[in-house]
Amino acid sequence: MNSAKPSAAAYAPGRVNLIGEHTDYNSGTAVPMTISMGTEVRYEAGGDQLVVESDLERSAAVVISPCVEIESLVPWVRLCAALVRIAAPGLTGRIAVTSSLPSGAGLASSAALGVAMCLAVGVKPEPITLAQVCQKAEEAVGVPSGLMDPLVVAASLPDHALLIDFAELSTRAIELPEDLEIVVVDSGERRTLSSSVYAERRAECEAAASRLGVPLGLAPQDAPGAIGDPVLRGRARHVVSEVRRVGTFVDALGAGDYETAGGALIESHRSLRDDFGVSTPALDALVEEACSMEAVYGARLTGAGLGGCIIALCRPGAKLDLGTQLWRVRPGGAAHKLAPLA
Ligand code: GLA
Repeated sequence: MNSAKPSAAAYAPGRVNLIGEHTDYNSGTAVPMTISMGTEVRYEAGGDQLVVESDLERSAAVVISPCVEIESLVPWVRLCAALVRIAAPGLTGRIAVTSSLPSGAGLASSAALGVAMCLAVGVKPEPITLAQVCQKAEEAVGVPSGLMDPLVVAASLPDHALLIDFAELSTRAIELPEDLEIVVVDSGERRTLSSSVYAERRAECEAAASRLGVPLGLAPQDAPGAIGDPVLRGRARHVVSEVRRVGTFVDALGAGDYETAGGALIESHRSLRDDFGVSTPALDALVEEACSMEAVYGARLTGAGLGGCIIALCRPGAKLDLGTQLWRVRPGGAAHKLAPLA
């Protein structure tokens, strides 16, 4: 008799966003790409309870009972519990999570966990479906994030970044030239999205959009000028100008004009700092130092901001000694199922 328990495993990468920040929940555009660090989830069915274990926070295995109060769990277990409730209610067995992604560094560790877990527990491997399940789970744990992270994690192609249009929910692979290097520099500042001003920014964007009668990502360039409130005007100006910079960046990359592509990154950082209010002195200092280097075309904070990492667009082999942890990254592929362990 075969007593093997059914099992499944999946891997999902983290991501950096090249440009298009805080545009996803505004029906705008962005150009993220996956990286080679990521998260693996192994699931083994059986038993009458669900146990999760991980190397993430050196925590012991945790039993997730169907009636557990989600708020009482540590963040990564809370997300697992929310995902199971949405994607596979009543699931029993053992889920083991391992990850090479630093959490709170703005490299989409939550999306990697979410997508890998969805694939391991049998959610349809269709990028939009995966991304929407992950977004719902994030909402359930109090993080009203957009679709960018889980969508790029689920839909990327190797050696390409992904241009995403969030109004149409369409994607286009953008080849990343071999003679460009993306360097990710960690500021060491950690943040959790739920405790950040992310939800506040989202609400401000919604307020600005309702004054304009159109989502900010689809508004004309001069539209923000009509908003009386200076804070809301700044938030709108960031989103509207960021969507324009996404177009500039993609065109410049295609034309091999790396100075212009880098310039778009620098402007994006200024806009996130001055109009959107999500930079920090540490991120500003790293961007400034990186941009003063000969081999750097441009740099900006990546992800939600308020800590985490910057990216620098560089000539290959650039020596970026900024005194902090850095990674040279190439676009990885998408999340996928793994052969289960025998
Ligand atoms: C976080 C969110 C994304 C996106 C970025 C900012 O990574 O999860 O949905 O809003 O911030 O661009």
